[in-house]
Amino acid sequence: MSIYRPQIGTPLAELDTPCMIVDLDALEHNFDVIADLYADSPTKMREHAKNIKTPIILHKQIRAGGTMGGICTAKTAEAEVMVEGGLTDILITSQVVAPDKLARVAALSKIADIKLSVDSDGPLNELSRISSEMGADVGVVLEVDTSMGRGGVRAIERGVELAKMTNDLPGVTFRGVMSHQSLAAGADNDRESRFIEGRRYIQMCLDVKDAIEAEGISVDIVSTGETWTYDVAPEIPGVDEVQGGTYALMATQADYMDAFQYAVKVLSTVISTPESNVAVGDVGYRAMTSPGGVLPRVDGIVGVEVESLEADVIVLRSDGEMPLDVGDQFLLLSAQQDIMVNRWDQFVAVRNGKVEAVWPILARGCHH
Ligand SMILES: Cc1ncc(COP(=O)(O)O)c(C=O)c1O
Repeated sequence: MSIYRPQIGTPLAELDTPCMIVDLDALEHNFDVIADLYADSPTKMREHAKNIKTPIILHKQIRAGGTMGGICTAKTAEAEVMVEGGLTDILITSQVVAPDKLARVAALSKIADIKLSVDSDGPLNELSRISSEMGADVGVVLEVDTSMGRGGVRAIERGVELAKMTNDLPGVTFRGVMSHQSLAAGADNDRESRFIEGRRYIQMCLDVKDAIEAEGISVDIVSTGETWTYDVAPEIPGVDEVQGGTYALMATQADYMDAFQYAVKVLSTVISTPESNVAVGDVGYRAMTSPGGVLPRVDGIVGVEVESLEADVIVLRSDGEMPLDVGDQFLLLSAQQDIMVNRWDQFVAVRNGKVEAVWPILARGCHH
């Protein structure tokens, strides 16, 4: 089966659907917001590749400015693709424990500045053994849990123990601390509230940093923050890097972050209008998702909502006469990007209603 690849210059209206497009003006706007905000700040963006999975897009933010020149990846396989794509400073933000993957991380560290998130001693010892046997040196960044309840040390003392342990091991170098936090569902999301919440969480990571430094171990990197704290993290002294992800493509779960524009959308065609206020489109679960039951949103058509998403189709209902006919196109916004992007082979990059580029999603797939 060959993958549909539209010609450069194809108008939006002639694209075969469903089609995942990236609006270049919106993407560049989002990158410029970061470049402008971080230009004169000691805090810089370390963009997360987990949603984008495409080196060329990450290079665009680095070229636009406001970054520390590197990125995050969620897993080893993503890091490999990014190094191959010319990115040279990578923080892998999930723990890696399998010996073969640790060997892949160590191998990567011979050609790029690789840092791995660590939160327990077994994998740390294994990383050290494998890395030193290979003559490699992998950076260690300690993950601190601040609110997510997933990986990451829960106590300051545990963080200090792991930092000391790293310092005594060959093949690894202690580089710093990291955390990722979510704004509690239903919490106020105005800037002041985000600042109070963001500081509360990020301070937990800074407390571990301070305790490690008090033991005479230097902490080069405090890597924390994300889309909802992108504008508050730089105001918290001690934060070096922000791990923004969602801001680049945007998703409806972050719609309160109105500095950013929706860059990624899925184009669909109406294939049936079985009732005067119902339209069925050619997008299903194969192309989009509804994480936590949150359905995609119709872009820019007032009064038309997504009623359901099925395996191969989407059902829209309007509050009056359906403004869409069979054959009409419409655009959908996703609640979350990572799961959606992972299903596609390429981004079709569009400007002024025409295809300007087609970018393969090189790091897609379930493999770690
Ligand atoms: C470790 C880590 N850092 C940063 C991010 C980016 O967060 P956001 O997409 O909210 O910007 C994520 C997202 O899941 C993450 O897991």
